[in-house]
Amino acid sequence: MTDYKSMLAQLDALVRDVPHPVADYANASALLFETMEDINWAGFYFLEGETLVLGPFQGKTACIEIPVGRGVCGTAAARNETQLVYDVHQFPGHIACDSASNSEIVVPLRRDGAVYGVLDIDSPRIGRFTQADREGLEAVARLLEETVGQVW
Ligand code: SME
Repeated sequence: MTDYKSMLAQLDALVRDVPHPVADYANASALLFETMEDINWAGFYFLEGETLVLGPFQGKTACIEIPVGRGVCGTAAARNETQLVYDVHQFPGHIACDSASNSEIVVPLRRDGAVYGVLDIDSPRIGRFTQADREGLEAVARLLEETVGQVW
């Protein structure tokens, strides 16, 4: 199980007062990728108009543009709510960037309540993500919103 208290402390130390958003999100993705068990992708997409564009990440190369409303990421952005997907193959419109992915969680990033991006994590294990992960990753998102904010 991920120790989110420890992860949040490490993340805070990495990004607070570091005024370089790309570097901050890159380090955040590296921390998530090395801290969480059984994941194969961790990273960010940021909104440009009505399109999510690939940001810093760890894992295999990924699709660059995702329209709002498409796939798990686009659904999280459109609904402005976390998507916790037990089995991505059961999610209508799921976008398969890495065929090894079987479950996924996507958490919106917001400024003044409006979505400016998403945190996306994939796992090769069906049902990998729990309510504890949801709460922990939503806390990660809140910390990033507060300390780093928008990249573009
Ligand atoms: N599976 C995502 C696409 C992004 S990759 O997982 C990195 C989706 O359906 O939105």
